[in-house]
Amino acid sequence: MPGDAILELRDVSVRLSGLQILDHVTISVPRGHVVGVIGPNGAGKTTVFNVISGFVRPDSGTVTYDGRVQRRMKPHHLTRMGIARTLQGVGLFGRLPALENVMQGGSGRIRSGIVSQSLAMPWTDIESERLRVEALAALDQLGIADQADRLPSELPYPIQKRVALARAMVSDPDLLLLDEPAGGVSADDMADLAQLIRGWVPERSVLLVEHHMELVMEVCDLIWVLDAGRVIASGTPDEVRSDPAVLAAYLGEDGAA
Ligand SMILES: Nc1ncnc2c1ncn2[C@@H]1O[C@H](COP(=O)(O)OP(=O)(O)OP(=O)(O)O)[C@@H](O)[C@H]1O
Ligand SMILES: [Mg+2]
Repeated sequence: MPGDAILELRDVSVRLSGLQILDHVTISVPRGHVVGVIGPNGAGKTTVFNVISGFVRPDSGTVTYDGRVQRRMKPHHLTRMGIARTLQGVGLFGRLPALENVMQGGSGRIRSGIVSQSLAMPWTDIESERLRVEALAALDQLGIADQADRLPSELPYPIQKRVALARAMVSDPDLLLLDEPAGGVSADDMADLAQLIRGWVPERSVLLVEHHMELVMEVCDLIWVLDAGRVIASGTPDEVRSDPAVLAAYLGEDGAA
């Protein structure tokens, strides 16, 4: 894959509750590409995201972001670093309308060049007004601006997923981490999602965890395959699709189900 990596996990190992959850995992995300992480249930995909987000600290190995080894990733620094994440499921604030949920996603990014002195408004009002405008634009881009005032519980699940995506996009991230964005969405929505994700590159980079193989194969430039905490294969969709180790891992999952 040409170009440099925006993100790289190198030899990352994680033990939780005495179990080896990740075992010397090396995954890199070339800048400006859509990269998938796939694997059977429990393979460690979400844990990879938790390491990148700083929710889980690796026992060994390194995380390099934007050319720099990160001594410690911190969840509250992600937005500022240009990283946004959607959670497996939805993870919206139930008491906040869609618009305010999206505004939460933009509150951490420092911007320069905003002229506040000339306006007779307190800084916080200017900030929240700016955020409101950007959040509405993010909802609009996802085709759901008309749902801005609805509570998550009033929205169908696929629309909630879109709100979560808008919340990630509003911070204008360089790297998007999407954990199962297609979970529970219809075939039509899936096609929209594929188009949306492809539209984010090469300006942004995307790391995608997803079970829907059609989506993964359609949108990813590069795929890493995890099984039981280890990388068992990587390559283009075509390479991964025909890899015997990958087929065996998925057959094993079916066999166990
Ligand atoms: N805090 C924890 N303590 C102990 N074990 C954990 C912890 N978090 C995750 N695990 C275990 O680690 C393994 C990997 O979990 P993870 O959520 O990363 O898998 P996944 O690939 O995202 O699975 P899924 O496809 O079901 O979302 C699972 O066996 C899970 O039970
Ligand atoms: Mg998961």
